[in-house]
Amino acid sequence: MQVVHSLDALRAALKPYDSPAFVPTMGNLHDGHLALLAMAKEHGDVRVASIFVNRLQFGPNEDFDAYPRTFEHDCALLEAAGCDVLFAPGEADLYPQAQTFLIHPPTGLADVLEGAFRPGFFVGVSTVVMKLFQCVFSGTKTQAHAFFGEKDFQQQLIIRHLVTQFALPVTIVTSPTIRESDGLAMSSRNSYLSEAERAEAPRLQACLQAMLAAVKAGQQSLEAIEGTAMATLRAHQWQPDYMVIRRREDLGMPTDSDRALVVLGAAKLGRTRLIDNLSFDR
Ligand code: PAF
Repeated sequence: MQVVHSLDALRAALKPYDSPAFVPTMGNLHDGHLALLAMAKEHGDVRVASIFVNRLQFGPNEDFDAYPRTFEHDCALLEAAGCDVLFAPGEADLYPQAQTFLIHPPTGLADVLEGAFRPGFFVGVSTVVMKLFQCVFSGTKTQAHAFFGEKDFQQQLIIRHLVTQFALPVTIVTSPTIRESDGLAMSSRNSYLSEAERAEAPRLQACLQAMLAAVKAGQQSLEAIEGTAMATLRAHQWQPDYMVIRRREDLGMPTDSDRALVVLGAAKLGRTRLIDNLSFDR
């Protein structure tokens, strides 16, 4: 695996290839990332990953400084997983100037749920993803692919819109959330959990499962289902931000005729904020 830090080195490394299969990450890799890389192996002619903890998508009171950085270990995992090129830019490589051109995703999609609780998050994500795509795909001759996890459901939806609206020559491929054996969605932030919190953490997914079951059982009031989930989490010392049922296509409020749905939740357990979701058809 070739490890490159600058844009010039990346472009030189990718020059012999026609169609990169790209997995952008912020590092601290787990099986969820490796599942994306396994999918990438089935596309294109070169596997590229990036590791960049993107300051632009962290709010002032969020965990940018504490975000786990495990570069050597990540390199070993990527190498073993068949990554060909790792792009690991420093901040000065990706943001040589203060980034004043920003991508503002549309409000209906980006100011709700994660966007409501993390203002500016999707501006930071959209901007860095656009920039990473420009870096990785600039020499692409045939359709390229980029891979994202469904755990970040709203993120992948926004990135799909970004690709469509800017006519980027990239196909977005998503992979199902990879879970621990007790149902907890894998996340780099799980490493913040204490032992007791780790034992409690699967409740988020269990609440989403209960919401899904209630919808499938025909319970009419979605607000009541959402309220029950919020109350359950609060009763177990969580601080939920949202537990909602939404239309899968655009995160709008479902009407009676909408069949493709997703339940999404975000909640804090101690100081760790976890998110999760489940897609289903009713
Ligand atoms: O999902 C992530 O790890 C990040 O949001 C991404 C897409 C790599 C952009 O920084």
